[in-house]
Amino acid sequence: MTGISIATVSRALSDPQKVKYTTRLRIEAAMRELQNQSRQEKSGIIGIIFPDISNQFFPLMLAGIDSISSSYDSTIMLCNSNGDVQSEEKSLRKLLDIKADGIIYIPAGDTPALLKEIIDNSIIPVVFLDRAPGLKSINLITTDNRNGMYQAARYLLTLGHRKILYLGGKEGTSTDEERLAGFSEALQEAGVGITGILHADFSNTKAFSVIKEGLANGLGYTAIAAANDAMALGAIKALRSSGIRIPEDVSIIGYDDIPSSALAELTTVRQPFMEMGKSAIMQLYAAIADAHTPKKTTVLPSSIVIRSSCAVLKE
Ligand code: RIB
Repeated sequence: MTGISIATVSRALSDPQKVKYTTRLRIEAAMRELQNQSRQEKSGIIGIIFPDISNQFFPLMLAGIDSISSSYDSTIMLCNSNGDVQSEEKSLRKLLDIKADGIIYIPAGDTPALLKEIIDNSIIPVVFLDRAPGLKSINLITTDNRNGMYQAARYLLTLGHRKILYLGGKEGTSTDEERLAGFSEALQEAGVGITGILHADFSNTKAFSVIKEGLANGLGYTAIAAANDAMALGAIKALRSSGIRIPEDVSIIGYDDIPSSALAELTTVRQPFMEMGKSAIMQLYAAIADAHTPKKTTVLPSSIVIRSSCAVLKE
């Protein structure tokens, strides 16, 4: 099944420390396959690796996952990587050790070597959610990030804004790259120069300091397109702390539509987080039930929610 020599398999069983970890995993996966040919035995454990559970957006998708997994009587093992690749690797090992049936994975950034091994050798079913890793032949549930930010930028342009700052999230994440592409496309199409791109790691504290610093250096934008709501809210706090009025002086639009955004009257791009979570767990259950389930990418639509954080540019 594995193409690994009998001598190595034997050594992996008799003296496992002498065999490479990922080789042992492949052997164990094959043994599990042999042991439960009809895959009757399952642990019932679903692993979820999130990059930052302090960001309201991720628990919202968890609600979508739970709305399905609770009726399957699954045990959810939530791992928070805090955006750290080593922490992701540690979580992966833990989930493999407890024989999780499958994993829902939101990449923090770079791809851990162990994750590539798991995908390349189909050691355990994985569904990527929200952000795409730099891997091929995967299951992915995401949204139309490029079009979502394109529409957000178009909205600011129709209000007359021409000096628009893009406040980006964690560089290297697929969602930030796709949103920046949509922002750039909208401005270029309108013949408007892209004069401002800042990044703030998707966090409101970082966005606060980035905007405060920008203001100290004469930040001269009439509108800000933020790649998520947490940063938009941090930027609003920084602007207001400098006496700048929203939207009279500066218009701002976010992305996600977390609960705090409605309270803050923030215009934003709403991501279908419940549907994202539901689609991810259903795709994972299909892959667990049949290892030959075709891999697929699902792109769900986002929509603009107009509130009162944007206004027509005053002449
Ligand atoms: O708020 C966190 C952001 O990172 C969200 O927009 C989500 O899409 C993720 O990529």
